[in-house]
Amino acid sequence: MPEKILAMQSLVKTYIMGEEEQVVLKGIDLEINRGDFLSVLGPSGSGKSTLMNIIGCLDVPTSGSYYLSGELIRDLPEVDLSHIRNREIGFIFQQFQLLPRKRTAGPQCPYSGTGGAGR
Ligand SMILES: Nc1ncnc2c1ncn2[C@@H]1O[C@H](COP(=O)(O)OP(=O)(O)O)[C@@H](O)[C@H]1O
Ligand SMILES: [Mg+2]
Repeated sequence: MPEKILAMQSLVKTYIMGEEEQVVLKGIDLEINRGDFLSVLGPSGSGKSTLMNIIGCLDVPTSGSYYLSGELIRDLPEVDLSHIRNREIGFIFQQFQLLPRKRTAGPQCPYSGTGGAGR
């Protein structure tokens, strides 16, 4: 019996921009088992990042349910969400989100060279 690590039912995400309401995710049903590899494909603007943000607990759905390791994510306080982000989910970003490879030429750390007592 495969171990289900992620389950979504009728998941909807709506953005409200001023007067306009845009339904981006229109009722996603998804199950992922341990060991699965999955690609999310679609044209630009189709909602891939929106879905990834919800999977990564960076955002919450407007309606529907999202279970991660059997836990309903919607009901968790922010401190628990940050623990999940820290311990259970890893993202590799397309741009790697690393600092540019530059020598530091701007402001230095204000405490640089200051002993503990002087901070
Ligand atoms: N924070 C936001 N506020 C309002 N609209 C958003 C926001 N994020 C994404 N959208 C809109 O949702 C749609 C899907 O965007 P997105 O998930 O980034 O698509 P993709 O990653 O597939 O290119 C787009 O129309 C985008 O403009
Ligand atoms: Mg995207």
